[in-house]
Amino acid sequence: MRFQGKTALVTGAASGIGRATALRLAREGARLALADRDEAGLAAVASACGDALTCVYDAADGDASAAMTGDAVARLGGLDALVCNAGVYRRTHFTDMSPQDWATILAVNLTSVARIAQAALPALIAARGAMVSVASTAGQTGVAYAAHYAAAKAGVVALMKSLAVEFAPTGARFNAVAPGRVKTAITAGLAPLAGQNDALIVRPPRLAGRVDGGEPDDLAAAIAFLASNDALYVTGALLTVDGGQTIG
Ligand SMILES: NC(=O)c1ccc[n+]([C@@H]2O[C@H](COP(=O)([O-])OP(=O)(O)OC[C@H]3O[C@@H](n4cnc5c(N)ncnc54)[C@H](O)[C@@H]3O)[C@@H](O)[C@H]2O)c1
Repeated sequence: MRFQGKTALVTGAASGIGRATALRLAREGARLALADRDEAGLAAVASACGDALTCVYDAADGDASAAMTGDAVARLGGLDALVCNAGVYRRTHFTDMSPQDWATILAVNLTSVARIAQAALPALIAARGAMVSVASTAGQTGVAYAAHYAAAKAGVVALMKSLAVEFAPTGARFNAVAPGRVKTAITAGLAPLAGQNDALIVRPPRLAGRVDGGEPDDLAAAIAFLASNDALYVTGALLTVDGGQTIG
């Protein structure tokens, strides 16, 4: 019950890692605001969490991301934990990547996180709270056919480290997790690209029981740790949660 009496906002909460994180924080006592563009999915997760508030927004829109955050903080009456998890993944040959492809992936995966952080800062500082952003091992290793995604996720880590330094004197903490392959909807429906070289697609996790990918709960556990008082001495960290996918 590490979140008893605490408030938390989780983005991308309608599915996958965000859903698992919302359920975990609710089980540990948090009063939640859940945000996503998927209104029906959000409602289902909110009711599974008890009486969670819901906020429908589009992370591609920076102003909407900031407004959603202000609204969530006002309705919760403060903010102890902020989990920026919403994200999209697309595969495209770099030579085919249009300016619009680039702009959309950067807007959803990086710019929205910065706008949400800005809007949440006064409340996070007042609570000596914690922000956890969901990056990706792609941001550390690079990934074929998703250079925009890898660049955005590396940017999220740099953003968290920068806020960790700038706001360390306030006591607020800023960390990131880097999932490797996790069994969620984000990659489930991806068709192979024409001309794709399979040898360039990332290697699998190594850990027994996880060679097909991690479970959303594996990430929820890491996110909850960083958001909780168990991590009071942890700021500016990147916690890789990938079943050994990127070691060696
Ligand atoms: N699953 C993996 O293998 C993996 C690996 C590395 C990083 N990640 C990251 O984990 C995070 C969660 O992804 P997931 O795997 O749970 O996938 P998912 O597709 O199950 O969940 C993503 C959620 O984000 C929401 N979302 C997407 N675009 C949005 C937008 N424009 N506005 C508002 N909400 C939006 C979706 O509706 C969905 O509920 C993402 O940031 C993703 O990049 C996932």
